[in-house]
Amino acid sequence: MSVIALDQKTVAARSAHKETAEARALRETPPGQWFPYATPQARERDNRDIAFSFRGIGRKFGDKTVLDNIDLDVPAGQFIAVIGKSGCGKSTLLRLLTGLDKPTSGTLTVNKGENGENRTRIMFQEPRLLPWARIAKNVEVGLTGIASGAEAREKSLAILNEVGLSDRAGEWPSVLSGGQRQRVALARALVAHPYILALDEPLGALDALTRIEMQQLLERIWLQQKFTAVLVTHDVAEAVALADRVIVIDQGKIALDLGIPLERPRRHGSPELARLEGQILDTLFGSAQ
Ligand SMILES: Nc1ncnc2c1ncn2[C@@H]1O[C@H](COP(=O)(O)OP(=O)(O)OP(=O)(O)O)[C@@H](O)[C@H]1O
Ligand SMILES: [Mg+2]
Repeated sequence: MSVIALDQKTVAARSAHKETAEARALRETPPGQWFPYATPQARERDNRDIAFSFRGIGRKFGDKTVLDNIDLDVPAGQFIAVIGKSGCGKSTLLRLLTGLDKPTSGTLTVNKGENGENRTRIMFQEPRLLPWARIAKNVEVGLTGIASGAEAREKSLAILNEVGLSDRAGEWPSVLSGGQRQRVALARALVAHPYILALDEPLGALDALTRIEMQQLLERIWLQQKFTAVLVTHDVAEAVALADRVIVIDQGKIALDLGIPLERPRRHGSPELARLEGQILDTLFGSAQ
């Protein structure tokens, strides 16, 4: 794996505009002592330490190697974004993480709940709601095996309130807008308070303004609930606006592993974000793009 940690000159240059406490901590720490994956902020969020760990993970389909010897440790509570060209293996990585697929080599460790229960949830680009179930019932699907009856209804209404849809609980999915349906899907994914939320381009089908609203909503709920977020996105600006750390996958490997040591809330279009976006785009397309 090639880990590109922030060298001190880059950190200082990035931070010239307004140095954050995290950037200063990185700049003042000798390189050998860096822990490039986790911002101090992310590590303070939770004491369960590592949320998941990939060790030499490979996934082949027939002769085709999609993921090749991936090593990745993600601390609990971190928001990590995964970027890469179409077909590079992003969804495959999420499928492995969520247990929907198995690696052909390597070891994958996922932090489970105290009783060993699966506390990982996934959200897709399409909301995948049940058309025959009302909104509150759709959210309760996320509590299957965890809560039922009045308790499930109460939790469902509470999370619908969080995503701003408590007044739509009794309606059918068909009468909601695309953005509202995605908010229901987010509520269903979060109602059981997962440790890890995997997001496979969840905002990809939304218009630009709805998308920014959803990014803000996702960030707010992540800050409140302290889950570990793994966001696959094609949108480099979205990745740097939301994530503590961005990884780029190319030819089956992690081609870039970049910390985003900027305070929140972040301002779209700020010079720091633009610089980080440039670094990611250089990795994807080469610096002579
Ligand atoms: N079940 C499968 N059987 C055979 N090949 C597969 C299977 N699942 C994925 N692949 C192949 O693995 C590669 C990576 O697919 P994956 O869906 O992970 O890409 P991706 O990075 O998510 O792409 P996109 O950005 O277009 O969603 C592709 O070449 C795909 O055809
Ligand atoms: Mg995909």
